[in-house]
Amino acid sequence: MSTNPSVPRHVAVVMDGNGRWARRRFMPRVYGHKQGVDALVRAVNAFADRGVEYLTVFAFSSENWKRPNDEVSGLMGLVLVAVAKYLAKMAGDGVRVRIVGDRSKVSNKLRDAWAHAESSTAQNSRINLTVAFNYGGRWDMVQACRRAIEDGVAPQQVDEALLARYMALSFAPDPDLFIRTGGEMRISNFMLWQSAYAEFFFTERLWPDFDETDIDAALQAYRQRDRRFGGIPAEEPVLQPG
Ligand code: IPE
Ligand code: IPE
Ligand code: MG
Repeated sequence: MSTNPSVPRHVAVVMDGNGRWARRRFMPRVYGHKQGVDALVRAVNAFADRGVEYLTVFAFSSENWKRPNDEVSGLMGLVLVAVAKYLAKMAGDGVRVRIVGDRSKVSNKLRDAWAHAESSTAQNSRINLTVAFNYGGRWDMVQACRRAIEDGVAPQQVDEALLARYMALSFAPDPDLFIRTGGEMRISNFMLWQSAYAEFFFTERLWPDFDETDIDAALQAYRQRDRRFGGIPAEEPVLQPG
């Protein structure tokens, strides 16, 4: 089998399973999310050490507002705690932080914390961490179209490259590897446009338990994939007709 020796430039992660992790310990779901933040801080450094340039993580989906109020407000509060607790360390570790998602529905406090996280790490380049919060792949496509129309883009100017420039992740290459923890095998509205040719890796591991062994397993699986992008298998000889 042909292999793909490279490290993925961009890894996307659906950090799922926090609630189940907590329930197994008879703890409230928000406790699982708290552990999930710690797992994320560890994962950022581990991916950076392995040469990954972009790490984009799904922290709160457009649909997660359906959850009970105390969980939603717990998650919002946790973002503020996480920024206060970890931003200085991340900045010192060379992490550039960005947030993508609909900021119009979150509190001013949260918007300010994100702006602070982005501006205080803007000079960093060891790894680009993007936190998708109040994000959905469909939201992203809609906001891209809306902004293009607002800019007066004419119909004949619309092509894939143009829309990609209006997407929330326009600064990053498309994800090469898409990881979902927690055992569900679905996309749940994450990076719909960008994942067209991502390699998928699903693991039963719950996000708070996701560690360097799991990261290495995902990267190893990625190396075994033959990425064709619509072409033919790399090892297949091209036979001339006739
Ligand atoms: C993922 O964990 C984190 C968020 C959606 C905020 P879940 O909270 O979905 O955990 P499970 O899937 O219920 O275990
Ligand atoms: C996806 O997980 C969203 C995040 C991890 C932030 P969900 O737990 O919300 O997805 P579903 O509901 O199982 O599809
Ligand atoms: Mg879940």
